Amino acid sequence: MKVMLSRVMMVLLTCFLSSTQVLAAEKAEDLYKNYCWQCHGMTGNGNGVNVRDMSVQPRDHTDAKEMSARSDDEIFKAIKEGGQAISKSVLMPPWGGVLSDDEIHSLVKYLRHLCQCSGNQ
Ligand code: HEC
Repeated sequence: MKVMLSRVMMVLLTCFLSSTQVLAAEKAEDLYKNYCWQCHGMTGNGNGVNVRDMSVQPRDHTDAKEMSARSDDEIFKAIKEGGQAISKSVLMPPWGGVLSDDEIHSLVKYLRHLCQCSGNQ
């Protein structure tokens, strides 16, 4: 009986943990689709509705070659403090006033999912 109970607990715990992970991923996707898609595109390929009028084109977040040239820290900084913080264009706005650090970390993970790459740490 005791063994049964701990198995049930394990299953419940696993369900709980995996659902919170899924939630975090969905939340990052929502954030992206609220704040980033206008420039970076719905699928992150850099082809948002704004690009026609922009002098500097937004990064294609699905480009593994470009995206793996940046560390997670640089990506975090670019999102929080804007393009200028990593010597990129001011057309990439700073999001630190809108998004919490946790939300920015989840976006960094989401970008890694889009590019299917990891950072050059
Ligand atoms: C107003 C348009 C605009 C919006 C909105 C925008 N970006 Fe950008 N972003 C840019 C531009 C333009 C660049 C490229 C800057 C450059 O190459 O100098 C860029 C670059 C970046 C980079 C740097 C990539 C690299 O390696 O050079 C990251 C990371 C990024 N954006 C993430 C985001 C995220 C996440 C959001 C939403 C929270 C977002 N951006 C919203 C315009 C935008």
